[in-house]
Amino acid sequence: MNNGEIKAWVDLLAHAEDMKGRHLRELFESEENRFDGLSFTAENFLLDLSKQRITKQTLSQLTALAEQQSLGEWIEKLFTGEQVNVSERRSALHTALRLPKENKLKVNGQMVTNDVHASLEKMESLVKQVQQGQWRGFDGRPIRSIVNIGVGGSNLGPLMACDALEQYTPLESKLLDVHFVSSMDGSELEKLLPWLEPATTLFIIASKTFTTIDTLANANTAREWLLKASGKPVELINQHHFIAATGNVERAEKWGVPEKNQLLFWDWVGGRYSLWSVIGLPIALKVGMENFRDILKGAHAMDVHFRETSFDKNLPVLLGLIGVWNINFLNIHAHTILPYDGRLAHLPSYLQQLEMESNGKSVNGKGERLNYRTCPVLWGEVGSNAQHAFYQLLHQGTELVMCDFITAALRYDGEGEELQLQHQLSLANCLAQSRLLALGDESASDLSYQHYDGNQPSTTIMLDELTPETFGGLIALYEHKVFVQSVIWEINPFDQWGVEKGKKVASSLLAEFESNVSDYLDSSTQGLIQRVQAQRGQHEN
Ligand code: F6P
Repeated sequence: MNNGEIKAWVDLLAHAEDMKGRHLRELFESEENRFDGLSFTAENFLLDLSKQRITKQTLSQLTALAEQQSLGEWIEKLFTGEQVNVSERRSALHTALRLPKENKLKVNGQMVTNDVHASLEKMESLVKQVQQGQWRGFDGRPIRSIVNIGVGGSNLGPLMACDALEQYTPLESKLLDVHFVSSMDGSELEKLLPWLEPATTLFIIASKTFTTIDTLANANTAREWLLKASGKPVELINQHHFIAATGNVERAEKWGVPEKNQLLFWDWVGGRYSLWSVIGLPIALKVGMENFRDILKGAHAMDVHFRETSFDKNLPVLLGLIGVWNINFLNIHAHTILPYDGRLAHLPSYLQQLEMESNGKSVNGKGERLNYRTCPVLWGEVGSNAQHAFYQLLHQGTELVMCDFITAALRYDGEGEELQLQHQLSLANCLAQSRLLALGDESASDLSYQHYDGNQPSTTIMLDELTPETFGGLIALYEHKVFVQSVIWEINPFDQWGVEKGKKVASSLLAEFESNVSDYLDSSTQGLIQRVQAQRGQHEN
């Protein structure tokens, strides 16, 4: 986009000049019902934008920008399976993974909905076998421990969901413990394996490509552990102890996962958009298939809202546009995710991948360099813990930071009074922090180090309650927000070429540790490898 020629962009630049001089305190003072005018609802969700540095005019100019960037047409392209992932010539049809069975979707002659539901059914039957103790390990005992081996999109979504929805674990899954292993160096496996019973442990190798070295290294270590413990042939171990959730059937087969243990998905599902597919198997094992289907249902409800609601009331559109406003017009390049709910502890890491791997780009879909900013640096933590870690910077540092506060209105229904009070305490802290960040406070003291400047913009997303459905809706909300921003910035959010090169460089360096270090390498890399070799030498002597 030549942004200088886009009228809505130019208008927003002018409007931002006016808004930069206005403090949120002043905006709240001048509009009595600011919350009513700048908060929006969809079923089970409230999005409060009143603590953003905006007016209604800002929102109407932002929606004009969305119109000018043909957002409506792009949304249709996404949902109907056009090849929006241009560099890889693929559709990005994660929305099809949560379509009800009766909503038929055909893309390029393939009845996508049928495939999706067939794969869900295979997953369901497998979940049942494990839950009912029919899936047995090498000595005939039923499976009790599940270990998901995967990384990035094959780890973060299932990990987050299992943790967030643990309270929904049905009786039939109560005997199962579900673990996650991702790190390439084997740290997690090293700690976990001594606590597991080999004969009753089932590993899921979760990898879209089935080429990710981190995952394969962990899978190989796990298999060696089983082989040693059982003394059984490898075919038997593969059959009883490994399931593949993958898009690469050939590789999975070559590794040794038999056909009946393969759960498949398609190249039109991006890794970081895959928790809705068979990659969600650990979620279904942990919280049950019914709850997994409710997650899909909640995401689908958000899809419908996104596709059918006018931009000025559309939650993902507004969330995306607010980000664009902060980044491109108010020059705010840091974004923190603050769930005031310990169940969403993994949401920040999940969103780090979703947002930064999708929109951390500096060329547009045609490969041309951009002359405007895109995805900000994003990080986060459970809000109340972050208060004791990095809020000092939010309140009194030199950086402008946009914050997302995420909370649920209701929790612990029917539980003890103490827990309900803890929830209220958490809510009070959530609201107090966003209020102080917005309004600041210079009244208490003459000492500048006790002043709070305020004017840090924030969004509050309030769920009525955290349930499988609202969880699905929340994640779909962020997925679509990322898509909205990519359309405004004209980038392809569905590829990740930036992470490919590093993998190649790493594999070419591997051999260097075993020989004389090549002198084509830079002196830092040579020096560090030599240091490792010297330490090893000393250790061996
Ligand atoms: O390296 C990045 C990445 O490709 C992510 O996009 C993906 O989620 C992750 O690696 C894992 O990939 P796979 O599921 O193919 O093992």
